[in-house]
Amino acid sequence: MDYYRLNSLYIEVTHACNQHCRHCYLDGGIHKKVEEMSTEQIKHIFTEFKAQGGRYVIFTGGEPLMRSDVFELLDCLEALNLRFTFASNSLGMNKERLEKLASYHCLEEYFTSILGSTAEKHKAICGKDSFDAAINAVSFFDKKGIPTFVQATLCNDYIDDTEDILKLFSGFQNCSVKITPIASLGCKSETEKEENKNLIVPCECFGDFHKKLNELCEKYPNCVGDDNIYCHEQIKEMINEYRENPFYSLCWHSVCVRPNGDLSFSYNMINPCVFGKAYESIKIPMNEKFFEYIEALKKADEYILEKSLYGEVEYDTEVDNYLRSVPK
Ligand SMILES: C[S@@+](CC[C@H](N)C(=O)[O-])C[C@H]1O[C@@H](n2cnc3c(N)ncnc32)[C@H](O)[C@@H]1O
Ligand code: SF4
Repeated sequence: MDYYRLNSLYIEVTHACNQHCRHCYLDGGIHKKVEEMSTEQIKHIFTEFKAQGGRYVIFTGGEPLMRSDVFELLDCLEALNLRFTFASNSLGMNKERLEKLASYHCLEEYFTSILGSTAEKHKAICGKDSFDAAINAVSFFDKKGIPTFVQATLCNDYIDDTEDILKLFSGFQNCSVKITPIASLGCKSETEKEENKNLIVPCECFGDFHKKLNELCEKYPNCVGDDNIYCHEQIKEMINEYRENPFYSLCWHSVCVRPNGDLSFSYNMINPCVFGKAYESIKIPMNEKFFEYIEALKKADEYILEKSLYGEVEYDTEVDNYLRSVPK
């Protein structure tokens, strides 16, 4: 049997969270405790991932600090010499935890989020005082020469905050900022989707957003991370680059492990593309079913390419919507 070899692994160790953000696509919060893998199951995944040639892990949630075994899991990555990104909203970070994280040779990057250009605006979305904690964490790692990545997730009312946010982080040496407009509310309940629908940035605004971001890239060089709004030319270029590769959709979107062990594609929150339970085996058999998924992703790419002829698109949301409409 042939297996698809994974180079990088995106693992959501929990969907529990010390915040309950109004926009959270996975509906993270204190209530999300169900079906979490055990410490041993996750360690098994890391060990098998390494054995099949894996190199890089994105360790995320939910909020990973909600797991009491978080440092035991990171110790395991360190022992296996697997480089990793650690993603956190920073609310639970304190001096001891920051120092502990920075002590890992394998920590490649610290990821954190802000939801507006001021502490007040940020709190209006996540309900907690985590804005200063996020900036403090970025400052801490930056001083140590450890790269940081800030995702600024913006609702419709804050979409013009882009430059203020870049100003905030442009003084750091090694910090990329990705600005993500909220384009969907993922798997939130229908009630919360209705309550928070005004957070969504309508797709008619994507063109202006994209143009502004491109201008800012020149003004703040080395500061703006990959954006996720794409125009037709960009999508065409990406597709052409990977067209000859049978797995091209997987080349630039990683495979993800969900808290319950489901091994799936990274974008889809209510995911029809589940390959199996990762704690049983991380190996993805290259069978008929696998190629069906690849074909579905290729079709999604073509559909998005076509759609982008009529305006900029938010790629992940589009793929997500497309995959959900494909029969299981
Ligand atoms: C799910 S969180 C996981 C890590 C951590 N809890 C955090 O918030 O940084 C990853 C990122 O997804 C973003 N996100 C959540 N819901 C989103 C949505 N509906 N649209 C766009 N980005 C979203 C968050 O703002 C955060 O930057
Ligand atoms: S901090 Fe992250 S996981 Fe938690 S609710 Fe907010 S976006 Fe979701």
